[in-house]
Amino acid sequence: MKKILVATVKPFAPDAVTGIRDICKSAGYDLTVLEKYDGQDALIEAVKDANGLIVRSDKVTAEVINAAENLEVVVRAGAGYDNVDLDAATKNNVVVMNTPGQNSNAVAELALGMMVYLARGGFNGKSGTELKGKTIGIHAYGNVGQNVARIAKGFGMEVYAFDPFINRAEIEADGVKAVTSAEALYETCQYVSLHIPSNEKTKASIGTALLSKMPQNAVLVNTARKEVINEKELMQVFAKRDDFSYISDIAPDCADDIAAKYEGRYFFTPKKMGAQTKEANVGAGIAAINQIKGLWEKGDKTFQVN
Ligand code: 3PG
Repeated sequence: MKKILVATVKPFAPDAVTGIRDICKSAGYDLTVLEKYDGQDALIEAVKDANGLIVRSDKVTAEVINAAENLEVVVRAGAGYDNVDLDAATKNNVVVMNTPGQNSNAVAELALGMMVYLARGGFNGKSGTELKGKTIGIHAYGNVGQNVARIAKGFGMEVYAFDPFINRAEIEADGVKAVTSAEALYETCQYVSLHIPSNEKTKASIGTALLSKMPQNAVLVNTARKEVINEKELMQVFAKRDDFSYISDIAPDCADDIAAKYEGRYFFTPKKMGAQTKEANVGAGIAAINQIKGLWEKGDKTFQVN
């Protein structure tokens, strides 16, 4: 009997786990659920006899993969797979997949929610501002970016996007203005919403060069990864521009410094919250188990990332 381990420090909503359990039962897989575990050792111990592993942002290091002698597949129930050591997986003939699109509306709703929160001064009772009529730039027009664009249009915002991997016609078919460089996007848009992945090319790539170009009352919105920000330069931009704000789904390492100096110009979720809805958990969790089933029963490797 094939063994599946669901290992989530940040648990799925109960409905998602029930759905995964039902599919495992009907497919004849043995399911173990390891939630809110404490440290890598617990994961290393639990994964030892697993054939399939489902995780969220949990770190699937070489040590984890090497400890799992029977492991055939890891599904990151979500979009970004920077938490999985792809080289170690490939060396061990482990297929790694993600579940793109399944949690993107949830993340996009949080991006706009944080924008409203900041624009209204954290609901402090004073006059705030509206999003209607303001410019927003979508930096990378993937699943989350497209959802942010859709919702931002509903707010009456003017939406721009930059994505070197998506052709202009596709972006403009959504009523979004495509620009040809990141510089042009930051120069044009009061709000910029980040949707780039975290990898060797993008780490620390957002800093002074782009942020200093933004128009007045600039707001950087980060529901991507904190690692893509150059935090030293972020602090310099905060110091130079008293009209600059940063809102992010997960606090940067320099959060205390920002909080001490720049009240009213930041908001950070206390825990990464973007994908934390019942709908997103069910979507990503069920997709993950179905993709494992598809791989084992039909050799289907759609969404393989290694
Ligand atoms: C993703 O990459 O899918 C999101 O960042 C969500 O991550 P999470 O599953 O850890 O909430």
